Amino acid sequence: MTDTDENVTNGPRQLTVIGVASGKGGVGKTTLSAHIALALCQLGHRVALLDADLGLANAQLLLGVNAPFHVGDVLAGRKSLDEVCVAGPLGLTLIPGASGNSELANLTAAEAQGLVQSIAASTQEIDVVVIDAAAGLSESNLTFLRACDIRLVVLQDEPASIADAYGLIKLQSLESRMENLFVVPNRVSSQKAGADLFEKMNRVCMKFLDEPVGYLHSVEEDPELTKASRQRQNIFESNPHSSAAKCFTELALRLSKALSRDNIANPTQ
Ligand SMILES: Nc1ncnc2c1ncn2[C@@H]1O[C@H](COP(=O)(O)OP(=O)(O)OP(=O)(O)O)[C@@H](O)[C@H]1O
Ligand SMILES: [Mg+2]
Repeated sequence: MTDTDENVTNGPRQLTVIGVASGKGGVGKTTLSAHIALALCQLGHRVALLDADLGLANAQLLLGVNAPFHVGDVLAGRKSLDEVCVAGPLGLTLIPGASGNSELANLTAAEAQGLVQSIAASTQEIDVVVIDAAAGLSESNLTFLRACDIRLVVLQDEPASIADAYGLIKLQSLESRMENLFVVPNRVSSQKAGADLFEKMNRVCMKFLDEPVGYLHSVEEDPELTKASRQRQNIFESNPHSSAAKCFTELALRLSKALSRDNIANPTQ
């Protein structure tokens, strides 16, 4: 697909920003955001992945690309976005993260929004930005989530992850941001187990927040993912028939449908 305008069903191209967050660290945000971004590329979207994790900028490792500059260079005015962007697999554009960089930590909501908008403007072709956010409830993290149209909260079926995911969801509820917020159970033993985990979280949300949380699909435990990441490969290239690859594709399809329901550009429909 070469012409963006031919690919959209809802008028001029719009930018959709998807934030991938979690309460607890290490639950699969980078894995999920990179693979959702790649799956959306395969569905015909033009996707940029913004690595907004201040701690370990590891999206580039997972994608097997070397990035000399990072988003902190853009924020500090040292580089333009185009100089910082690197081409990832499957047509993905990666905006590398700034390990331990303080420019990102102190972004205001307007600056975060401005950064996201300039990603769309500078590359001209991007219709989806996926943000790999840091774990936890830091102000910079919440700032990025405020700039997102869709928020995905990754969690695993263990008490600390569930509790911390709920803490993040509760904050979103307090900010009236429950619309387009979806729980994504990761490393589950089956889709049924993932749906059960979602139900558990949804019951808690209904009871204490008086509103539901959304659900699209779960990602199953798949040792192929760990193997792929050790080899600095993504699962679509290393093992496209794996269960994880199928989960990410299905998740991206459902996400893509959710985008079109909300009148957001969706070239697959
Ligand atoms: N569904 C899965 N099946 C098997 N392994 C997985 C799965 N999801 C993630 N992993 C593995 O879990 C580890 C942590 O994943 P990842 O780095 O994506 O987490 P994270 O939430 O981004 O961590 P951090 O909070 O440190 O940024 C990685 O080794 C990854 O390969
Ligand atoms: Mg990460």
